[in-house]
Amino acid sequence: MKTEMKDIVNLCQNRGFVYQGSEIYGGLANAWDYGPYGSLLKENIRALWIKEFVQKRMDLMLIDCALIMNPKVWEASGHVGGFADPLMDCKSCKARWRADKIIDQYLLDHPEASEPQGYAGDKTDSKVLEEYIREQGIACPDCEATDFTEIRRFNLMLKTFLGVTEDAKAQAYLRPETAQGQFVDFPSVARSSRRKLPFGIAQVGKSFRNEITPGNFIFRTREFEQMEIEFFVTPGEDDAYFAEWKSESERFLTEVVGLKKENIRFSPIKKEELPHYSKEAGDFEYQYPFGWGEIETLANRTNYDLSAHMQHSKQDMSYFDPINNKKFIPYVIEPAMGLGRIVLAALCDAYTVEQKGEETRTYLKFDPKVAPIKVGVLPVVKKIADIARPIYAQLSEDFVCEYDDVGSVGKRYARFDEIGTPFCVTIDSENYDNGMVTVRYRDSMEQETVKIDQLNDFLRKKMR
Ligand code: GAP
Repeated sequence: MKTEMKDIVNLCQNRGFVYQGSEIYGGLANAWDYGPYGSLLKENIRALWIKEFVQKRMDLMLIDCALIMNPKVWEASGHVGGFADPLMDCKSCKARWRADKIIDQYLLDHPEASEPQGYAGDKTDSKVLEEYIREQGIACPDCEATDFTEIRRFNLMLKTFLGVTEDAKAQAYLRPETAQGQFVDFPSVARSSRRKLPFGIAQVGKSFRNEITPGNFIFRTREFEQMEIEFFVTPGEDDAYFAEWKSESERFLTEVVGLKKENIRFSPIKKEELPHYSKEAGDFEYQYPFGWGEIETLANRTNYDLSAHMQHSKQDMSYFDPINNKKFIPYVIEPAMGLGRIVLAALCDAYTVEQKGEETRTYLKFDPKVAPIKVGVLPVVKKIADIARPIYAQLSEDFVCEYDDVGSVGKRYARFDEIGTPFCVTIDSENYDNGMVTVRYRDSMEQETVKIDQLNDFLRKKMR
């Protein structure tokens, strides 16, 4: 049975992964809150990313920049001038659309159609987009009329004001990507860490974009978390590092987070569609229930960003190579992932429905590394809390656990399965008197008895 987005959304809302934001006030469109299990799932993925790339590698450092940067940063980066989507309105029903997204959908629905000349998604010249939509007779997805307004460019930066006045001088932006923090801090990190190239600067944090067409649950939102690495290299070594980060990214998504290989693909961006500063780029995509969607952009950003900041700030952003006695501006390889999009992919990947005779079993088959609750702790009956609670205390030294003594054991197992808990530890007086508890496995539903004094080690080995 094919999983649909509504299955994922229902499970997330009913089981405490993701809720509608500001729900008691009728919600706020496309704003989502991570609930108790969603928050843990997101934290686990973030921690794995930091472990893989910052802890295990010797050439990466983590920073955490202010969300609001000097507005000049965004002038230098090109976001003030160019970070805009091509918008048009349907004259008949007044619905607002992104011209490039309507064309992308048309191309998917009409495989025989060829792309507009020089098509580069949202970066395509507005006139080319308008002409193509007219020529092909592309209709409004809502009312099917074919009469649209001219395309206007809509800047995606979210504005705010600092201090007490709301005039142009006080205007600032919420960052639309974390990456500029790494570029701006490059000289400070290089100096204070005394690192030699190649090295990378990593950052995880919130970014904001006034998206025109947010949607697909937590896939495209106006407030989201990015996990971005800017990896600084000597020009000439950039192609090899692009290849290295391509395989590192794939390894992270499939082997570390545990997403199924068949649900991940890499789509290179055609040379003619690359932004002017990019030498090579491609997207890792995940096969969501609504289709393939970008999860990571990998780009060779050349020395564009550091050069732009050097020009605008008049500060020296170059690097001195003591071995060759040369000064130059490093090239940058950037693997940029969306944390929320990986969370959504992990949920879709894990969602499992099994039919056994008349019975349907729905559960989340998370890799234990990402599972929000690692161990469910269940006393068979409520009244043995005095022996069960110390076992919870013992286990929670090492794992995130949940104690549940309400309802039948079968119903409690089903609930833990639904939130993707890989192991349940069941305590009954008879086994306890022999120093044992029962471990029950989510996927096979098999059970075995384990010695209490070896329980943490036993489970730790199972989680590797
Ligand atoms: N520094 C490069 C950069 O920001 P991007 O492709 O615009 O590149 C990187 O963003 C990743 O951030 C995307 O692959 C996606 O996973 C995530 N992302 C971007 N916009 C998003 C949005 N509106 N909602 C959720 N995630 C988003």
